Amino acid sequence: MKGIVLAGGSGTRLYPATLAVNKQLLPVYDKPMIYYPLSALMLAGIRDILLIASPEFLDSYRRLLGDGSDHGLSLSYAIQEKPEGIAQALVIGREFVGDGRVALVLGDNIFFSANLGERLKAVASREAGATIFAYQVEDPQRYGVVELDAAGRPTAIVEKPEKPRSDWAVTGLYFYDNAVLDIAAALKPSTRGEFEITDVNRAYLERGELSVEKLGRGAAWLDTGTHDSLLEASEFVRALQHRQGLAIACLEEIAFENGFIDLAALEARGRLFEKTAYGRYLLRLVDAQRAT
Ligand code: DAU
Repeated sequence: MKGIVLAGGSGTRLYPATLAVNKQLLPVYDKPMIYYPLSALMLAGIRDILLIASPEFLDSYRRLLGDGSDHGLSLSYAIQEKPEGIAQALVIGREFVGDGRVALVLGDNIFFSANLGERLKAVASREAGATIFAYQVEDPQRYGVVELDAAGRPTAIVEKPEKPRSDWAVTGLYFYDNAVLDIAAALKPSTRGEFEITDVNRAYLERGELSVEKLGRGAAWLDTGTHDSLLEASEFVRALQHRQGLAIACLEEIAFENGFIDLAALEARGRLFEKTAYGRYLLRLVDAQRAT
């Protein structure tokens, strides 16, 4: 299965912080925001990844992540000229995806949940249909919203409804079979002029091929849409990391755990960041590994 990270957009809601830096490159506590969604794809076991960015920031991503080899990935890059909708990622990425399945994640989405890796790997192994993740929120009108029946099966999916009939927001992580490429290619822009990912998901719902995984109590799906929510996301990551001494979205750790990189590569990254808590964390992992 291949993966796409969509990290375009204009970031106008975070001006002036995002005048010269892409939103998804801003730090969330100790690492760039893009690490978090990228970690979700890696936790799902995905190594072949396309990063889509706006033209002015593509080079920054290349500087940050290179060809992916530091994290045991194969990374390619593509441009989205204008932010014309999330579903456009599946048109831009058509050739990259080829004839297999694909997971799409939004570059500003942060997930935290127990056993996330196991859950995502199970979803990634599904051969057919689409799977989305839903999270209960207090302000569903800001998101795609999915209505569920008593058995948890989806009955309707609506983008930013004025009067939401459910408080289950659709998060920005989507798993699709290859049919998504034709579904996305056939989309018409919505009334707000965007190629909507919600229309893609509705097409799967109408075929009876949409599964919804609930991220329940104890899981976090963090918002980064405003200055306040961005700071709160940083505080959340900081609090958990300090309390447990375990990192969230540490790409090298996930790469090592998944067998994408070896111990020597993990150590090399630790040495590179030796002056930071992030680097020292990596070196502690190396020591612990050697002690076993
Ligand atoms: O975060 C989940 C929500 O994301 C879903 O619940 C909604 O169904 C979905 O439409 C989307 O809603 P947003 O209004 O939050 O999307 P936004 O325009 O803020 O874009 C989300 C991310 O995707 C952001 O990092 C920018 C990036 N993006 C967005 C668009 C429309 C692109 O890179 N290109 C685009 O064309």
